[in-house]
Amino acid sequence: MERPADAGSAVTRLPSPDMFASQLAADDDPTARTQEQPMPATDSLELDEARLGEFVHRFITDLGAAHHAVTVVVGDRLGLYRALAGTGPATAAEVADAARCDERYTTEWLNAQAASGYCEFDPATGRYHLTPEQIACLADENSPVFLTAGMLLAASLFKDEERLTEAIRSGAGVGWGEHHHDLYVGVERFFRAGYAANLVSSWVPALDGVEEKLRAGALVADVGCGHGASTILLAQAYPNSTIVGFDNHAPSIDAARAAARTAGVADRARFEVASAQDFPGEEYALVCVFDALHDMGDPVGAARHIRASIAGDGTWLLVEPMAGDSVAANLNPIGRLFYSASTLVCTPAARSQPGGWALGAQATDAQLRGVAERGGFTRFRRAVDTPVNRIIEIRP
Ligand SMILES: C[S@@+](CC[C@H](N)C(=O)[O-])C[C@H]1O[C@@H](n2cnc3c(N)ncnc32)[C@H](O)[C@@H]1O
Repeated sequence: MERPADAGSAVTRLPSPDMFASQLAADDDPTARTQEQPMPATDSLELDEARLGEFVHRFITDLGAAHHAVTVVVGDRLGLYRALAGTGPATAAEVADAARCDERYTTEWLNAQAASGYCEFDPATGRYHLTPEQIACLADENSPVFLTAGMLLAASLFKDEERLTEAIRSGAGVGWGEHHHDLYVGVERFFRAGYAANLVSSWVPALDGVEEKLRAGALVADVGCGHGASTILLAQAYPNSTIVGFDNHAPSIDAARAAARTAGVADRARFEVASAQDFPGEEYALVCVFDALHDMGDPVGAARHIRASIAGDGTWLLVEPMAGDSVAANLNPIGRLFYSASTLVCTPAARSQPGGWALGAQATDAQLRGVAERGGFTRFRRAVDTPVNRIIEIRP
């Protein structure tokens, strides 16, 4: 099995069996677990009042956002945002009626939205409403900026918190399939908006010669396809092509097949349970990997297999989260989101697989290029960017 010896500091190794053994020994001794690092007590520190106030303010804002996140998930599930979008300026009773929810709870929910800037409240009339921008982000699942499902993704991680805490302590992996079901649904609904807005209109046209091939009819693989949002969009846009989605998470493949049937593209969007390192087929004109390479324990094995499966003039479309070339460059709201998701989903997923890699969701271009080159590819180009994604063209 290949070991990633020289791929940079973001590449980590799985702990050796010896490391697990010493960890197990520590587990047998409760005092070993509770031993704490010495740290200075607060009353021995010189606190800057202004900086303390700023940090407390920041934390309270985040604490409010964390609590509010659950109300977003609840509002999404109950159709409260859609009801409010439909009613226009409305009293709490009218919104509750439209959503068929309890009035008292709905009043409290609306006040939580208003305090968070997620709806508007007019004290003169006692009515609540959504602005057009709030409707686009919160209520309209087909909008290119539909964001609500992102909170479902975040909330799912609270449901996995105990297992993740243990994994971070021990170094063990948590496989994609070991998470709460809401993660899979949240990822599909959250990512689909970006794919619908960009994949066919911008990303495919940015690849050299690919759009023409897909229009004429070509064989495409979508590796790590999850619930198949990207696979289905490609099948809808290029009816002469055959798009095959692969994922090693069987329940996701079941969901993708059902979605393709609902979308009426099951004749040209097929799905199979297979890993990136051994999916079947050859002479693919295009192999896509959307937000999945950094989740793999063996991305080089995936790159090598893609190289072997792709046509001589084929293209590998790699979509990865936006990131800069250093940790310092990622210390911003996008990096915050992706480093957090990477800690709780991507790194544990990679750790659960053989291969010894854990690129993380903020892998640099140089690291991704290194993976592609080890797989046998020679050309690597950032074809286009969005604020949250790098769209990379990789060719033999
Ligand atoms: C973050 S999700 C992205 C799903 C989908 N591409 C999307 O953008 O909505 C990562 C996906 O990669 C899949 N995956 C991870 N490692 C894999 C591997 N070695 N082979 C195949 N699929 C893998 C997971 O099962 C999961 O469905």
